[in-house]
Amino acid sequence: MQKVTCIAPVNIAVIKYWGKSDEDLVLPLNDSLSGTLSTDFMCAKTTISTSPALEVNKFWLNGIEQSFENERLLNCLKEVKRRANQTLPHLNWNISICSENNFPTAAGLASSAAGYACLVSALAALYEIEGDISAIARRGSGSACRSVYGGWVQWCKGASPTGEDSIAKQIAPASHWPQMRVLILVVNDERKKYSSTSGMKRSVETSELLQYRATKIVPQRIEAITKAIINKDFQAFAQITMEDSNQFHAVCLDTFPPCVYMNDTSHAIVDVVHAYNDFKKSNKVAYTFDAGPNACLYLLDSEVEEVLSVIDYVFPPVVNSEGYLKGIPLSKKAITEELKAVFEAKRQNFGALKYVIHTRIGDGPKTLTNP
Ligand code: DP6
Repeated sequence: MQKVTCIAPVNIAVIKYWGKSDEDLVLPLNDSLSGTLSTDFMCAKTTISTSPALEVNKFWLNGIEQSFENERLLNCLKEVKRRANQTLPHLNWNISICSENNFPTAAGLASSAAGYACLVSALAALYEIEGDISAIARRGSGSACRSVYGGWVQWCKGASPTGEDSIAKQIAPASHWPQMRVLILVVNDERKKYSSTSGMKRSVETSELLQYRATKIVPQRIEAITKAIINKDFQAFAQITMEDSNQFHAVCLDTFPPCVYMNDTSHAIVDVVHAYNDFKKSNKVAYTFDAGPNACLYLLDSEVEEVLSVIDYVFPPVVNSEGYLKGIPLSKKAITEELKAVFEAKRQNFGALKYVIHTRIGDGPKTLTNP
């Protein structure tokens, strides 16, 4: 009997991946770049066990048994076994995979990225794989390849038709910019939307803006945001992050039929962030939205309390209600009279936000010795 347990982080892209040039190999049309979030508050956890007595392969996700006949899962497993230490006695035994997320999957918070990064990390530990495993995680879900590393991570689209150079690389570790914080605003929206996989396929088929974005816009943005991260230039970082989120959602609307992921609350958050930055006369907060209505705000630690006082005022109840603020604890600050005057007309209905997670940039996957 062999057993290994890993945890892996969520990542939030500031330059978005949207569109594949090869569906099966999961090759992207453009490079993307993300921050890896701390596993302290949000992570996937996977335990894999194997023994000669196991009669079939088994897979559980959040306590519910899943079919093992999942193409992405099987592709990862095949790649792992190809790169495995071939002398291991347990290489051909059946396996049992047990995966869970410590954050609600319903919130649609990049669970597949953390999940596949975790699965592949656990398989790599079990079969003693050496070297980069991001190209294997990519076969599970494109964005998962970035969760294989901590800090700031670029997924280079690569040039090889086999995908061997379509890999993630760390551009800076988590310790590089320790002041960076992330607020995840979980929007109260239960409606099921189309998956990223089907949405981006439709964009590739129908959006001309996507082609323009992938070839003309993203390469220069990747260069500029890398520079901003290296120089810890929050102004530039925030500007590019917001522009890229907006352009990604413009591509979604340029898709036919359109992919509508943001809702009224998401747009109200965009409005509040711009009003706050205008009030401060510089970019103090950046928003970014994935394929769903939840907002992810990047900001520096010095700004968190004040920004939360504004969020609490515009989208009650957040900070001042038990359980609404999760993650890194902080003291609650009342909104100033000056800010109240700016945001009074923007106040939303009670319950527009479910809760807020306050977190930071963190490290990559870990193998647990005492799970
Ligand atoms: C909007 O990685 O979920 O979050 O490769 O088909 O599994 P598949 O798609 P997925 O797409 C993520 C898209 C995004 C942007 C990003 O994370 O870069």
